[in-house]
Amino acid sequence: MPYRKKIIAGNWKMNKTNNEAKVIVHDLILEIGKFDDADIVICPPFTALSIVSEMLLDIQNIKLGAQNLHQASHGAYTGEVSAAMLRELFVRHVIIGHSERRQYFGETDKLVAEKIKAALGAALKPIVCIGETLQQREANQWKKVIETQIRGGISGLDEKEISEVVVAYEPVWAIGTGKVATGEQAQEVHAFARGIFKDIYGQAVSDKLRIQYGGSVKPENAQELLNQPDIDGALVGGASLDARSFTAIVKNSCAK
Ligand code: PGA
Repeated sequence: MPYRKKIIAGNWKMNKTNNEAKVIVHDLILEIGKFDDADIVICPPFTALSIVSEMLLDIQNIKLGAQNLHQASHGAYTGEVSAAMLRELFVRHVIIGHSERRQYFGETDKLVAEKIKAALGAALKPIVCIGETLQQREANQWKKVIETQIRGGISGLDEKEISEVVVAYEPVWAIGTGKVATGEQAQEVHAFARGIFKDIYGQAVSDKLRIQYGGSVKPENAQELLNQPDIDGALVGGASLDARSFTAIVKNSCAK
């Protein structure tokens, strides 16, 4: 089986003031600042990026991520943030197309594709989210939804570009609900998604592509999920807001 280093990312969403961010990052540096078995990313809100960036300056093993960006390089887009602005703060990753952005801010696969290009243009690594709603799962449409999101949002890249991308499968019904997909359920979707990438980009690319699982990941379920052959990491929301639980997830993710 091809080796893919696990990547565990914490998505703080709209949580934590700068003072709160300082406290948790201090604890994370102590606990996992030297942990090397997985890539670790934390994604604070825009307002805390600068302070967290400073704190992580000498920490090799925790990388900084943003939760969103605008697709244009600059201009009259009140309230928006560009890839270059993020890059200058030493942001390395950026979450794109999170289901909350799709649901509350109308983001489409086309916009996702544009944002991926903008991120890559500034040497930011996109974490691109895909996933079906409860209704779509119950109507047995998840395959169609996943395939449409991949082909519509993540298919127009060359081989070098796709190698910078991490995909996050996040079933919308499992986000913030406490309803986690079982390892088996998640594995089925991950394997299906990887098959589509193989169809688009070929075996070598799909073997290297990291696909995270997201949706109510907790210290208790991280190991079962992350031991699945096609699950290469986790995108953690709620449980990333607490240093102890995020640390436990990172460590459990790499436990056999
Ligand atoms: P959750 O969120 O871990 O709170 O379910 C995951 C996400 O939205 O990325």
